[in-house]
Amino acid sequence: MYWLDVAGPQRRALDLVVDEFAGIVSAMQAPHILLGIGGGIAAYKAPELVRQFRKLGAEIIPVVTEAATHLVSPLALQAVSGNTPRGKLWDADAEAGMGHIELARWADALVIAPATANRLATMAQGSAQDLLSTIYLATVAPVFIAPAMNTRMWEHPATVRNVETVLGDGVRMIGPDDGEQACGEFGPGRMSEPDAIAEWVLDSLEISNLLSGVNVLLTSGPTREHIDPVRYITNKSSGKQGFALATAFRQLGADVKVVTGPVHVARPTGIEYVDVQSASEMKSAVEAEVDQADIFIAVAAVADYRPVQALDQKIKKSEQNKDGLVLELTENDDIVKFVANRAKKPFVVGFAAETREAIRFAREKRARKNLDAIVVNDVSDTRIGFDSAENAVTLIFEGKEVELPQMSKNAIAKRLADEISQRFLHRSN
Ligand code: PMT
Repeated sequence: MYWLDVAGPQRRALDLVVDEFAGIVSAMQAPHILLGIGGGIAAYKAPELVRQFRKLGAEIIPVVTEAATHLVSPLALQAVSGNTPRGKLWDADAEAGMGHIELARWADALVIAPATANRLATMAQGSAQDLLSTIYLATVAPVFIAPAMNTRMWEHPATVRNVETVLGDGVRMIGPDDGEQACGEFGPGRMSEPDAIAEWVLDSLEISNLLSGVNVLLTSGPTREHIDPVRYITNKSSGKQGFALATAFRQLGADVKVVTGPVHVARPTGIEYVDVQSASEMKSAVEAEVDQADIFIAVAAVADYRPVQALDQKIKKSEQNKDGLVLELTENDDIVKFVANRAKKPFVVGFAAETREAIRFAREKRARKNLDAIVVNDVSDTRIGFDSAENAVTLIFEGKEVELPQMSKNAIAKRLADEISQRFLHRSN
């Protein structure tokens, strides 16, 4: 075992250090943070990060990679966290206490700081090679990373790809900061400061009671319109923006339900999901839920048309079709318009995916569909909108427009949720 089991006088000395925090930490409401420490030089900041978390009321169990033990003392981590650091997957004693799956379940958040280039690669591949990577795959808690590495490593295309993959999987990232690095180079790659990381994580976990008792119903993701048993019409929506918005409303204290088309991104916790495939299934699910909704948000990229006939058998190439095949389509019901024109109407927000004259078309769409607000993104820009980690949108209410420049979908979602809740809470009807 490369960390120490501490007992006797040494244990009492540690208890004294731990007592330093006793007045600050309320065990009753302390969020549980698993702190994964990667093997980068910034690991030396880990005890300070633990201290900052505890100062803000969190309970910490450090999970130390083998490489990190060369840079930070498990004894110091035990002293400041008050918990025995964990590190080995194959540690019978530790597993008998709290096994890796139990650790993954215990966590309200998994924070990986520093997240090294190697750790990002491991996460991107989904490989379960050590305790930390196993916990990463097993937990449903939100995951936060604070990368730290040499500037050139950070800018290497392989790292860029891995970061994109990991963010696409729903991981949230802070930093890295710019500045002088331990290796003497300047540029991005420094781990963010411990106080900033701790504040950011706990702020993101916080659930306010602003929308307590408010039911929010969202549609999210693409729909699939079947042509035959193996072919369908769909689009590039990943569900990222919808899930980010669901999370943001959850953090404001709302009860959130998402009617989701088929997506492959991780599902945030604390939210109810209704799975659908086609636009007509999405409409039926919304019809079944909308009576309870106070706010309805249509983020989904719903197919406007579906094949007139979904065939039971796979279409075969044949003599009959040798000059081409005509697929006849019919229009789907407009779900958001249906909700916005009900007698018992929630506060309704639509999205608009436009490729030109975005603002003008979105204003018209808002009025035509009788929406309280519309969020428009210019999907001709491939850096934002469909299946990207970031977005840039304009939120249009009657008499007020808010432009949100390019940022992560989580950050956009937070801003949208704040604006929409304020408008909802101060509406006149
Ligand atoms: O899922 P991501 O990869 O994160 O991408 C996010 C997004 C680009 C899908 C999202 O930001 C977005 O723009 N969603 C709306 C996409 C869309 O279908 O836009 P639209 O302009 O075609 O539709 C306008 C509104 O009517 C939308 O609120 C849509 O949900 C709704 N609609 C459309 C057709 C239909 N039959 N029923 C509907 O409710």
